[in-house]
Amino acid sequence: MPKPYYITTAIDYTNAPPHIGHAYEKVLADVMARFQRLNGREVFFLTGVDQHGQKVKKKADEAGISPQEFVDQISGKFIALWEKLGVQYDGWAATTAEPHKKVVRAMLQKLLEAGQLYKQPYSGFYSERQEQFLTDKERGPDGNFGEEWGVVVEYQEENWYFKLSDHVDWLREFIKTHPDFIFPSFRVNDVLNALENSVGQDLCISRPSKRMSWGIPLPFDENYVNYVWFDALTNYISFAGYLAEEVGNTGLPKFENVWPADAHVIGKDILRPAHAIYWPIMLHALGFTDEQMPKLIVHGWWNIKGQKMSKTLGNVVDPNEVADVYTPEALRYYLMRDMATGYDADLSEERIQIAYNELAKGLGNLLNRALNMSQKYRSGALSTGGGYDDEINQALRQTVAAAPAAYVEEMNKWAIHNGIAEAWKIVTHANQFVDLTQPFKLAKDPEQAARLDSVLYHLAEALAHVSILLSPIMPEACKKLQAQLGWTPAEGFLVTDLAWGLLKEGHQHGQPVPLFPRIEFGEAEAK
Ligand code: MSP
Repeated sequence: MPKPYYITTAIDYTNAPPHIGHAYEKVLADVMARFQRLNGREVFFLTGVDQHGQKVKKKADEAGISPQEFVDQISGKFIALWEKLGVQYDGWAATTAEPHKKVVRAMLQKLLEAGQLYKQPYSGFYSERQEQFLTDKERGPDGNFGEEWGVVVEYQEENWYFKLSDHVDWLREFIKTHPDFIFPSFRVNDVLNALENSVGQDLCISRPSKRMSWGIPLPFDENYVNYVWFDALTNYISFAGYLAEEVGNTGLPKFENVWPADAHVIGKDILRPAHAIYWPIMLHALGFTDEQMPKLIVHGWWNIKGQKMSKTLGNVVDPNEVADVYTPEALRYYLMRDMATGYDADLSEERIQIAYNELAKGLGNLLNRALNMSQKYRSGALSTGGGYDDEINQALRQTVAAAPAAYVEEMNKWAIHNGIAEAWKIVTHANQFVDLTQPFKLAKDPEQAARLDSVLYHLAEALAHVSILLSPIMPEACKKLQAQLGWTPAEGFLVTDLAWGLLKEGHQHGQPVPLFPRIEFGEAEAK
């Protein structure tokens, strides 16, 4: 019995409401979690919110409320969005939760005792936007720190450091000998370059509480709080049961059962240094072995007309609004079909409409036609046609039979868009099948009764298969499709259970209801 598939995402900053990039990542992880279950794996899916840090403190001050009240409000918006989009997680990682804070403190204590932390005076430049100290390498050709760093302040203070440099040789070797640590592999070189640039540098992991109080106090020096990235990265183990017994945490998975993570799903911007350098080094310093390192799944960014989404440009897209117009299921479908995992994609209303039409015209219409005809000619009772068969039927059965293996292969490679394409081959073929067989003509000829039965059966059966393959991507729409077919897959139905004959002789299906009702789009808003 393999261990549960442990999948996590980045935890989202709670200094602003969710945008479409956040939604993409969580839907991607949710689709993979559902796919793994469909493919027979037990799953532990963790996601959550990153609630500490300077920006939160600042925004809460501006709003005149406490940081906790502020993060609770914003976290609520994330939770509501995941509910709306059908993102079903098993664990919720909120970094202000007590169990997490206890683990962070215990971990810091362990690192101190292992001689991995030291205190030192420091004077340097600090970017408030990125919440990190800057070095001369970050200066532009004109000698100044670029706009991307926001306000840069010079500080002189004592701080706590983590001996990152002790582990650089190990990490270099680890990355080179573990090609599956980072997916897609084209990002590996960039990480190795960043690693060379960080040689000899340790990581400042504290902030004096007098200038930044919104964080987890260091257990051995209460005048400081923990650097937000150190705190945030730890969520992947703290909410998976790491040190649970030691700190008295309950209700979490047994750590040995779920760790290492099979997938940390993150965006390309936080690959390095945080996830590909700090994180494995933190784990290594805590005594985790090479076999206990997690895997990173790095997705690209949604841009708008090739530009980054940003508040300054005023082009930030609210996933709630898109879901309200096009339905949450269609939004999930669009996000999954229009981005090849790992690469950037351009978000456009026009493309969302194309995706919606594809669903309405390709899948919705097929279902509607198939069930309408069957209701009209056979009162919704399916019959295989007493053994009637021909090449046209056989060809459709072949497409249906070939789809699952190809689909599973693509999904396992994180190529969700290709997985969809494999399932969609059935939809396309079934639509052609209607054109070829012309059931409305067969219905007029009593001698063709058995053939008509077999045609109507093939259509319904093909749709049942599609409803399983697309269920990780559009769980609710597929359930509705199944309800119309009058077919409920058995509890724990697996992709390997797909075989011709899901619908039995004499099966009675329901009335057709438009799965993706017509939407008056109007003019696509030029964003
Ligand atoms: N809080 C940190 C992550 C800590 S993980 C231990 C953070 N938060 S974030 O809210 O800024 O970003 C959360 C995730 O959303 C990141 O993986 C980021 O890459 C992703 N995205 C943010 N904007 C995005 C797009 N425009 N497109 C796709 N994903 C994007 O970073």
